[in-house]
Amino acid sequence: MDEKLLRLRNVSKQFPGVLANDNINLDIRKGEIHAIIGENGAGKSTLMNILYGLHQPTTGEIYFNGNAVKLTSPLDAIGLGIGMVHQHFMLVPSFTVAENIVLGIELERVKCL
Ligand SMILES: Nc1ncnc2c1ncn2[C@@H]1O[C@H](COP(=O)(O)OP(=O)(O)OP(=O)(O)O)[C@@H](O)[C@H]1O
Ligand SMILES: [Mg+2]
Repeated sequence: MDEKLLRLRNVSKQFPGVLANDNINLDIRKGEIHAIIGENGAGKSTLMNILYGLHQPTTGEIYFNGNAVKLTSPLDAIGLGIGMVHQHFMLVPSFTVAENIVLGIELERVKCL
């Protein structure tokens, strides 16, 4: 249970005029469940979008299973087993939580056919 699955090292994200993530360090081990809590605009979604390949960090490194990784698109993240459930406006409202989660996986399987 001490194996570090995901490591963020000094991850920052600078948008024009806004430092959304300031030097984030985070270790996640297998089997752990984490909650990231912060006020509106604290940078939670930005950090998750970085882990899902939607944003590139301005500085810092991400390690998966001990290897440095570049998550350049959601396909890179999905390939590592990283899934994402977006905030409400990014979801398909008529779908269940499970259906929203597997949407990306279905697209990947279709691509492989
Ligand atoms: N694409 C973007 N371009 C410029 N600034 C952005 C962009 N995305 C987020 N920001 C800014 O970065 C900061 C962090 O936003 P973020 O959405 O990550 O916060 P959050 O913690 O998820 O907030 P909330 O609780 O409202 O969802 C905010 O100041 C926001 O305006
Ligand atoms: Mg958010």
